[in-house]
Amino acid sequence: MPMNVVVMGAQWGDEGKGKIVDYLANEAQIIVRFAGGANAGHTIVIGQEQYALHLIPSGILYPDKMVILGAGMVIDPVALFSELKMLRDRGIDTTGRVFISDRAHLVLPRYIQIDKDRDLARKKPIGTTGRGIGITYSMKSDRDGIRIADLEWKEKMEELEPADRNFLAPYVEQLKGMSIDLSAYMVHHKNAQILFEGAQGALLDLDLGTYPYVSSGMSSAAGAAIGGCIGPRRLDKVLGVFKAYSTRVGNGPFPSEFDPDSEDELCRFVRETGREYGVTTGRPRRCGYLDLVALRYACLTNSIDSLVMTHLDVYDTLDEIKACIAYRIDDRMDENFPASVEALNKAVPVLRSFTGWKKSLANALTYDEFPTSAMEYIEFIERFCETPIDIVSVGYDRKETIIRKSPWAK
Ligand code: GDP
Ligand code: IMO
Ligand code: MG
Repeated sequence: MPMNVVVMGAQWGDEGKGKIVDYLANEAQIIVRFAGGANAGHTIVIGQEQYALHLIPSGILYPDKMVILGAGMVIDPVALFSELKMLRDRGIDTTGRVFISDRAHLVLPRYIQIDKDRDLARKKPIGTTGRGIGITYSMKSDRDGIRIADLEWKEKMEELEPADRNFLAPYVEQLKGMSIDLSAYMVHHKNAQILFEGAQGALLDLDLGTYPYVSSGMSSAAGAAIGGCIGPRRLDKVLGVFKAYSTRVGNGPFPSEFDPDSEDELCRFVRETGREYGVTTGRPRRCGYLDLVALRYACLTNSIDSLVMTHLDVYDTLDEIKACIAYRIDDRMDENFPASVEALNKAVPVLRSFTGWKKSLANALTYDEFPTSAMEYIEFIERFCETPIDIVSVGYDRKETIIRKSPWAK
């Protein structure tokens, strides 16, 4: 029986979803990106080649895969066509295998400008990527958005502001050529193996994340069903990708953030070793300890069946590793992830120590070859989150991936 598998971020984005989707796409026929827009930056490294994708699903590097930009996405035509050109220039043939749901919304240049202006004007900026994401989703909620399907709707197109219509004009025919009825496509391909690629992460989800310091799409597992134009029961498995530590770009609460005063060295070490700079904006990412309170919350609110741990190699040389197992808020211990930004800002992480393994993991071919202390870190997380870690990534290259249990197995 074919399987439908969701790969989503289980933290604040940049967990390594692109790498994992690329790896798993080998066994899928169709890859559907279900949320976000050009705010995402998904990196894939294969030997000497590195690709940064923003809108196109991470299965594109295989010549035989169909890739779809789902209904939950917001699409900037300029970014889309420049990404397609970049791929073609690098020898990737994209002809006839990149489709867009006719329910996806379009990002206009003036939304991008409003996004930048509004964030600057905020007393406490969110630190958006300036890609017009929040404005496009609010136009959608306000029922004033423009969908791919609307490009065929003469009356709607005539009602557009001339500047918007002029902007879209050179893209209309190409976009129409890529447009599909995703719901019908999914019915037609019910016997295909499908991978649903998330963007952002559980804690950047509009409803479940650290609101208002979130993005505006549905980056949670539920978003895979909506953005993929299928019902939730057609999703067979949800994988949550997380780093062995935590990062966050932009502002907002981050209880386990390394203390910039006393832990300066650790922060710099993780940022440099893990190459923690944004793919989309180049901003240095904020870094911190693995937050197990937040990770367990992500598991629970997304029905995560199995976790994928990435960046474990970044900790290879440390004597001691710590992870946050509870918050102390106003002298009260809390193991639950609160909605209140004020509570999260006050939360002092309760840290548990683990012994470092002081050995490179890059050469391990199977989990059994891992040092005992690395296994202890992994297995503690599994127990804490009551979720197995079925894949461990020990480097950015496609081949530096250890599969303990294939997600394609029922
Ligand atoms: P995404 O947005 O979730 O796809 O993640 P990004 O591509 O924004 O950021 C992840 C970064 O970590 C990229 O530079 C990847 O090449 C890199 N990466 C992915 N997995 C690993 C890993 O296991 N170890 C290390 N050191 N780097 C990794
Ligand atoms: P991937 O898919 C990390 C963050 C921004 C900002 C907030 C809102 O690569 O994991 P937006 O422009 O979406 O309105 O910004 O969300 N953000 C991300 N952080 N990874 C991402 O995507 C992100 N997409 C948005 O930094 O704090
Ligand atoms: Mg990213």
